[in-house]
Amino acid sequence: MKRVISIDGPAASGKSSAAKRLAKQLGWGFVNSGEFYRSVTWAMLKSKVDVDIPAAVVEAAGQLSLDGEIVDGLSRVLVDGDVVPVDELSTAEVNDAVSKVARVFEVRDKVVGRLRALADAEPVVMEGRDIGSVVFPETRYKFYVDASEEVRQQRRAAQGLTDQISQRDKADSQRKSSPLKVPDGAVVIDSSEMNLEEVVAAIVERLAEAGFEA
Ligand code: DC
Repeated sequence: MKRVISIDGPAASGKSSAAKRLAKQLGWGFVNSGEFYRSVTWAMLKSKVDVDIPAAVVEAAGQLSLDGEIVDGLSRVLVDGDVVPVDELSTAEVNDAVSKVARVFEVRDKVVGRLRALADAEPVVMEGRDIGSVVFPETRYKFYVDASEEVRQQRRAAQGLTDQISQRDKADSQRKSSPLKVPDGAVVIDSSEMNLEEVVAAIVERLAEAGFEA
């Protein structure tokens, strides 16, 4: 059986850092599913696909060769056989376009297939928007890490990144295909007033209560 801990939540909620830290603590793989959608977006922008036209995104998605792997405990994405450079995935251009690409069913279908395959190889902590609701709805260990919009804006600004997170959250929550939502059965953690260690400790505590063993 696949072993998965899902951590979903809106942009800059702290889910990624918490998932990464937890995975390291458990000796499990860490999978950043947002990087898959960002990589597809990056590749499409590079090939001048008009991401405002869903049909153009569908066609480009059909031609794209997408793979994922976990190396030394961390996921990475390959497009057309090459590892995608992570530093090109958080640019303002990718941030602005990613929700338009991620709303397209054919893109999601492709990414979800790769994400599920990653959990065949080793146990994983996977973060995203639909991991507990759609990708691994059967997992017993689901979390949803939230934070106030103000705090999330501050976190992005502290990272020196340009990111219209409220627009992205709106688009991600309102799309038809696998919208961002609290998955059924997920434990919700509001990280607004918590630091990283406290978020991870809260998750570990809830895992223990649920009878989790690594
Ligand atoms: O986690 P992130 O901010 O890097 O994600 C970037 C975008 O990718 C996000 O705005 C929506 C999309 N995404 C998604 O639709 N489903 C996921 N499981 C993860 C990310």
